[in-house]
Amino acid sequence: MKNLHSTLKELFEWLHQHPELGFAEYETTAKLRTILEHEGIEVLDTGLQTGLIAQITGDLPGRCVVLRCDIDALPIQEQTELPYASTHPGRMHACGHDAHTAIMLGAALMLNQRRPELTGSVKIVFQPAEELPAGARVVLATGMLEDADLFLGVHVSPELPAGTLGLKAGPVMAAVDRFAITIHGRGAHAAQPHEGVDPIVVQAAIVQSAQTIVSRALDPFAAAVVSITHVESGSTWNVLPETAFLEGTVRTLEPAVREKAEVLMRGFTTQIAASYGAQADFAWRPGPPAVINDPALCQAARYVAEDMHIPTAQQENTMTGEDFSCYLENRPGLFVRVGTGCSFPLHHPKFKVDQQILYPTAQYFAQLTEHLLNKGV
Ligand code: NI
Repeated sequence: MKNLHSTLKELFEWLHQHPELGFAEYETTAKLRTILEHEGIEVLDTGLQTGLIAQITGDLPGRCVVLRCDIDALPIQEQTELPYASTHPGRMHACGHDAHTAIMLGAALMLNQRRPELTGSVKIVFQPAEELPAGARVVLATGMLEDADLFLGVHVSPELPAGTLGLKAGPVMAAVDRFAITIHGRGAHAAQPHEGVDPIVVQAAIVQSAQTIVSRALDPFAAAVVSITHVESGSTWNVLPETAFLEGTVRTLEPAVREKAEVLMRGFTTQIAASYGAQADFAWRPGPPAVINDPALCQAARYVAEDMHIPTAQQENTMTGEDFSCYLENRPGLFVRVGTGCSFPLHHPKFKVDQQILYPTAQYFAQLTEHLLNKGV
């Protein structure tokens, strides 16, 4: 294998130049397969159209650690002016998935060289379509991760200095649930509202009241966000419409709060509508649950970082979501942040990753994986 530093740099720049959207990561998948197979790493027959799972089996039997990264990009026109900027108009790796992929591929190449010393096996998931979010469920449906004992994931963070690892036990990212409400009133002449049931008044009442779920009905120490992001009704100035529509998202960190928020939203909506003589259909579309980091894994991750003299920081909670959480519904796991030292936020057209973080972070994940396989937590 040629110098691993330059392999990771070349891969990262190639990925950055060739961003592909969720479930269309064909070139990316082919590129990763070529590198893995060239290095003699087994690529499992998953049946996935895009994305892949590689496997490294140690000489001694033991547990199975899964390293997961995501490979999809965003529909954003890049404005970084990097020499290796996106060559695909309107598409960009603006969430650092190119860095995640290079890091986990680097860890895989390092672990492959240590194969004789490994007790157990490593599966490396190159997941499609994290942004949709839909890829994790598709990967889990292959059944190829049934033997997994624990999951490790990585995400870049512009809030941390380059290379600093953000670690925290417990909930760190929110459950991403959607709701849609259709209000059925009764249409009428705008000048004769008493002849109908105005769904727009009901819609407005729901928009106003929804925030009191967070401010009045949930524990002040429970993190929750209700955002109504899309309202629609009516088509002209002198007709009261039949129906009104609104949709949005609820974000929560604790499973119990998530359940309560749904019950409250549903109850509020239907009762407000009824009080106006209208009727509301409430649809709740659960997305990925909250990312909840395992305390023992977090402690092991801190220990390995200290041992390698890598700086760590307390990871801040965020109400954004990540479908990494889907892997953690039945298994412990840890989602690690790594600082990019960039002033622009994720999903910004000028977002950049400092390439210096790739090699040491790959080394860190290789070391942490070996520690968890050979020594446990
Ligand atoms: Ni991301």
